[in-house]
This record gives sequence, structure tokens and C-alpha cells, in this order.
Amino acid sequence: MPSSHLGVVGLGIMGRNLALNALDAGTEVAGTDLGDDAVRGFEAEAARPVTATTDLGAFLDALPTPRNILVMVPAGKPVDAVLGSLAPKLSEGDLVIDGGNSHFPDTRRRHDEMAEKGLHFFGMGVSGGEEGARHGPSMMPGGPMDPYARVAPILEGMAAEVDGEPCVAHLGAGASGHYVKMVHNGIEYGLMQILAEAYDLMKRGAGLGNDRMGDLFGQWNTGPLRSYLVEITADILHQPDTVEVHPDEMPGDEAPPKGMTGRYLLDFIKDTAKQKGTGKWTSQDALDLGVPTPTIDAAVTARYISALKEERVAAASLLGTPAGRADDPDRLVEALERALRAAFLVTYAQGFALLKRASDAYEYGLDLETVAKVWRGGCIIRADMLETFREAFRADDDLPNLLVAPAFTEVLSDCRHALRDAVDLGIGAGIPLPAFSTALAYLDAYRSEWLPANLVAAQRDYFGAHTFARIDQEGMHHAQWMPAGL
Ligand code: 6PG
Repeated sequence: MPSSHLGVVGLGIMGRNLALNALDAGTEVAGTDLGDDAVRGFEAEAARPVTATTDLGAFLDALPTPRNILVMVPAGKPVDAVLGSLAPKLSEGDLVIDGGNSHFPDTRRRHDEMAEKGLHFFGMGVSGGEEGARHGPSMMPGGPMDPYARVAPILEGMAAEVDGEPCVAHLGAGASGHYVKMVHNGIEYGLMQILAEAYDLMKRGAGLGNDRMGDLFGQWNTGPLRSYLVEITADILHQPDTVEVHPDEMPGDEAPPKGMTGRYLLDFIKDTAKQKGTGKWTSQDALDLGVPTPTIDAAVTARYISALKEERVAAASLLGTPAGRADDPDRLVEALERALRAAFLVTYAQGFALLKRASDAYEYGLDLETVAKVWRGGCIIRADMLETFREAFRADDDLPNLLVAPAFTEVLSDCRHALRDAVDLGIGAGIPLPAFSTALAYLDAYRSEWLPANLVAAQRDYFGAHTFARIDQEGMHHAQWMPAGL
């Protein structure tokens, strides 16, 4: 039976916004939090009377059984603490949904622990930040199918919509919801790094100013690259700085030239990017499963390199900063839109290939068409391209990699030249391009009939008798390798 009641545990910004969103969509909502301020804040913002309390018992009493409870607390120990307090007070058949960015092995464990107690448990990725939570996120629930039917109308009422379809669906078994959200974030890291490299190519490689770069991103956002991340990149580049600083007090070389009237906020933001771990988890599990995701890996590493600010400053004065103007700045800028298309496509392709392998390995039963559908709106990696991905998986639900989908053959044969141009010109100018260059290398390697791995196999056999396969005979072979000349 569908339910129209939702309890929300954790009324911080994400929890409160999701609770208000559910309320707007016609769901009866009760909320609880340890903090009195959070409870009162939720009550004050709610458009109609709600149960808002710091008392867990009163909160649970306000929810008809079987209960539906969304937990929105920071990933890690706080989730276990909440489940520990909730579980003894719940009734058989109650459903608890963890909507945080929990690591999927934790979700798997919690799922089993709750099932032993006769309780249902979902790990649900929620994407779209504060704004999305309030007005329409993308949601990625995974877990037992039966209780999903009960909460589907609630979640569908809250989710973003694209062409009348909600950006939420039951994705699969076990921890699949959090797994899909983790890979979403891995792709997010990759796309963000690609956009940062495009900015670097235009800034240092072609000497463009912020407004011009913002205009270009804005222009690209009207074509095939249309996506949330390209849109916000345009906004960020145009944003003026509001802090009044005299030009003489501007920091070092990174500041806009003296006498420039317009100052941009971006130019005053320190070039170090933090991370909470979801991108790293994506790379770690991809390595465990043997799935190549080099662009995501490179994006994670790029954040680590960015964090070495002091070391980089010291090394720059010792070794010299490599970056300079590209040989042909006009050609570089001209190549960028198509280079971005190719690099974006490759990054999504790596993420979807990982989902495909993980679904088999962990028996999630993922349908990649549904994942693409849920990512079309509300989430950080939403993009027009997702519709094409959805169609590609609908046409072939066993597609090994998006790069070989018929819809992308032409796009890739056109755009990969631009990607090569951009990488060539950028690297020639000393601009570090970890994401762009790994996207190109992945594309070139994936479509290489022959790779030099025969030499690696031979080396392994030479020093460790690890054996190799031959192209002309069955089985594994070992050779008596001899020093040259003997
Ligand atoms: C989303 C985001 C979000 C994530 C931030 C920050 O889908 O809304 O992925 O869940 O927390 O993007 O992540 P990092 O701190 O790891 O960059």
C-alpha cells in the first residue's frame, strides 16, 4: 500500500529541505533532530502544521506503521548512532532510508543488520545540493523491492522531473543506491576537473579574460554540452568580487592586473580543492573490480596535487612554472567545445562501465537505462547527454561501453581530433592536463586493436615465470628468456 507519511531524522540543511520538499508534495511529515534550533527552524519554515520534536519517542508515535523514515545525518558514525537508537523502537516492516553519502560497504552491513531485526533498509543517494533537496533532487534508492512501492509516490513527488518523468527509481538490490551515488560523484569529480582544465587552457594557454571565458562556457551551454556543471562554470567566471581591496593589496601574481576595474571572485579563491571521499571510493572500487576509470582517478589525484600548495610554490621557484601561452591560442580555443564533448563522453563512459561490472559482481541488478534516466535531472552531473545515454542503453541493455554505442561513433570521430589538438597544444605549453590527457589515452587505448601489453606480459614471464598467452596457440606459455646476444 502506498504511504503518505514520512519521518525525517536530521534537520540540518539537507534534511530540512527534503522534509519541506516532501511537505510541499503533499506528504505528512514529522521531523526530529537532537538540536532544538534545527527542530524549531523546520517548524517555522513548514507551510502547514508538522510534528517537529527533539523527542525520538514522540517522533515515532507521530508516524503510522509501517513507518517510512529518512535519515539525513553525516555519513559514517552518525548513521550507526541513529540506527542504534531507532532500531529497538521500530516495528517489523518499518523502512529506514539512509539519504547521506554513505560508503557502500557500510550500507551493505547496515542492510544485513536491519534485515536481521525484521526491518527494511535502503541506502539512497541524493544529489543536487541544498537547492535540489528543496525543489527537486535526483534520488537513487537501492534495497528490497517490496517496501519501495510504499514510498515510491512520496519520493516521486519530491524528485526533479524531466519530460514529466521523476528523477528517482528503485535502482537495484542491496547497497546499489549508494554505489550508484558514489559513481555519480566519481563522474562529478572527472567533469569538474575537465572543466577546470578547459579554464586553464583558456586562461594560461590562450590568455583569455574571465568574462570571455564565462561567455564561451555560456555559449557551449546552449549546445550539446548543455549541463549543470557547464552552466555554473559560466556563472562562476562572471561573478564579481564584492570584497573591497585596494589594487596594491591584491595577492601576488594571481591577482588581476593593477588598475583593472572589474575584479572577479574566482581570482581570489585559493587554488586548493578539498574532497569528502566519494571520488576516491569510486577509484578504489574500480581498481578492486579491475575496471579502468583513469579520468576519475586523475581528477581525484589532481585534488591531492592542488592541496600541496606550499610544496608547489616552493617547487615553482626552484624548477620554474611550466605553463605558458600555447603555440596557436585561436586553434586551442576553437577546439575546446568539441574536446569537452569527447572528454565528457569518455568520463561518463568510464562511470557507466564501472556500474555495469559492479552490478554483476555485487548482484545489484542495475538497469543502466534507468540510471541514465534518474541522472537526467536534479543531480550535479545532469546534462542533455544523459538522454542520449538512456537511449543507447535502451537500444542495447548489454552495451559494454558507451563509446561503442552507434549514436556516438560520429560524435567521437569528429570530437576526438579536437581533444587531441587541445591536449597537444596544452601539453606543449606546459599546462597540466591530467583529466583531458587520460580521457584521450582511454579513448585511444579502448579503440586500439593492438596494445603494447605483449611486452609487459613478456617482461612478467622473463623475471617471474608468470606465463603469457600466445595469439597462435591455446593455453598459457612460458619461455626460456635469454640475455641478448646469447
Ligand atoms: C551531490 C554532490 C554532493 C557532494 C559534494 C561535495 O550530488 O549533490 O555530489 O553529494 O557532497 O559534491 O563532494 P566532495 O566534497 O567530495 O567534493
